[in-house]
Amino acid sequence: MAAIAILGYGTVGSGVYEVLNTNTDSINKKALNPITIKYVLDLRDFPGDPVESILTHDFEDIISDDEVEVVVEVMGGIEPAYTFVKRSILKGKSVCTSNKALVAKHGAELLRLAKENNVNFLFEASVGGGIPIIRPIVRSITSDKIEEITGILNGTTNYMLTKMSEENLEYDDVLKDAQAKGYAERNPAADVEGHDTCRKIAILASLATEKQVNFEEIYTEGITNITKTDIDYVKKIDKVIKLVATASFDNGNVWARVCPLILEKDNPLSGVNGVFNAIKLTGNMLGEVMFYGQGAGKLPTAAAVVSDIVEAVRHKNINIGVHWSEEVQPLTNIDSVDVKKLVRVSYDDKAAAVSAVKHTFGDVEIIDGVADGEFAFITGVNTEANVNEKINNLLNSDSIEDILSTIRVELR
Ligand code: HSE
Repeated sequence: MAAIAILGYGTVGSGVYEVLNTNTDSINKKALNPITIKYVLDLRDFPGDPVESILTHDFEDIISDDEVEVVVEVMGGIEPAYTFVKRSILKGKSVCTSNKALVAKHGAELLRLAKENNVNFLFEASVGGGIPIIRPIVRSITSDKIEEITGILNGTTNYMLTKMSEENLEYDDVLKDAQAKGYAERNPAADVEGHDTCRKIAILASLATEKQVNFEEIYTEGITNITKTDIDYVKKIDKVIKLVATASFDNGNVWARVCPLILEKDNPLSGVNGVFNAIKLTGNMLGEVMFYGQGAGKLPTAAAVVSDIVEAVRHKNINIGVHWSEEVQPLTNIDSVDVKKLVRVSYDDKAAAVSAVKHTFGDVEIIDGVADGEFAFITGVNTEANVNEKINNLLNSDSIEDILSTIRVELR
């Protein structure tokens, strides 16, 4: 018997309980040992719930019980999760977590401690919810050098952008809907400002480089500025907008970015809708491979956590060996990365404004008829710094009133 303890009986924690109790026989067979949930830790009481008899409010019950082999941290946040996880590992217990904030910040240290203590620190559910992506990177794509990772890593914002686009809705209405469906983080800023996506791409980039990619250094722009009119322009040019995370690894030149990106319709990411996530990896031998599935939600995320529990139970006293050192991976500033952008401008004098745009950007196509008093165009390809400088220069023209928005467009 392998005893486990679940820290946190919220959406994911109750999902872990449900998955283990639904697929019990096949899970136990794969784990090579029957799994028993010995404790559930939560500050709250759950009268009448099946976990009532195994509920504790005191982490000391768990840490002092040598029978507990695996601690499942699904509380979220850095503290007390970090302290509980670290103490568990130091006490010789494997830890499985869905907590991307914890993994992005302390993953390298916790992996080192797990190795030193001959246990495992596993975090499949921290990126892409139910999509297997950590294990494929660590255990499957071992023959390749990863050249690029790009994807849609946040279910909430993808749900919101999809709904805004398909139903012509405003941002605020779709945010409330996403929260009501339980997709959004407790603090929706983590989703809509891109912080959640940023931590996820930091984790993937760290695994790809085998070094610490600091999430604080990743350029991050969320979807809070995306309006219905922006989406109307995107539709007018027959493209799709997504919140896309990218990490590029080119012979030691590593950069990463999270931002709204306008995609061609034949880009496979453009067809990823609703709460679904997708991650596209490019390997130098393998070429492109894509992973697709539900990136948020109770049971998909819990299923990924349970797959880690199975892995931990199967590898009792055997450290699996995940390479992610505490050495910091320097990132190239995205100012030097090539981009092109859709730019919306408002004008006092349309003909003069068009002429100012063409003077600065060449003979670009003018996209108009979407909203009064404005038009848009797509810049040519240049570095982020150069494109931004040219866009700012437009404001020197008396005919241009303002830059209303700028959104990056995928490069082909
Ligand atoms: N809030 C996250 C999302 C949950 O929407 O993707 C999964 O990390």
